[in-house]
Amino acid sequence: MRTIPFAVALALVLGGVMSAFATGEAPPKDAKTNYASLCKGCHGESGKGDTKLGQMLKAPDFSAAKVQEALKDERIFKAIKEGLKKGDKVIMKPYADKLTDPEIKALVELLRSFKPKP
Ligand code: HEC
Repeated sequence: MRTIPFAVALALVLGGVMSAFATGEAPPKDAKTNYASLCKGCHGESGKGDTKLGQMLKAPDFSAAKVQEALKDERIFKAIKEGLKKGDKVIMKPYADKLTDPEIKALVELLRSFKPKP
């Protein structure tokens, strides 16, 4: 008989844990994972924009010193969060609903790592 209340208690505890997971925010993903799933298709493995889609849309080459210098951190952040448009054509959609601010910051760091090494 003692095992039944224990099982019930265990189920309650586990249930609580599970629902905390279900309702809580998704755990943050690291920048590499986000880059691979959201950005790589256009910007390429090493940020060169050398994919089919990247070339078609003219994605910048993040491994070029000139491109890195021209981009301020705030501008990168804004581009990821709010997206990019040319006229009224969306070329890069906003990621505000997919990425948290800390995740976007981590992506800014990751883009910086494509910079040519001196
Ligand atoms: C559909 C293709 C596509 C995807 C997906 C995409 N981008 Fe872009 N991105 C572009 C293109 C094209 C440009 C160049 C826009 C231009 O010429 O103004 C660009 C430009 C940028 C710039 C430069 C912004 C500026 O002001 O010059 C940054 C930074 C950037 N992308 C980061 C990212 C990150 C980080 C992701 C993933 C979260 C991402 N992009 C996903 C196509 C894409």
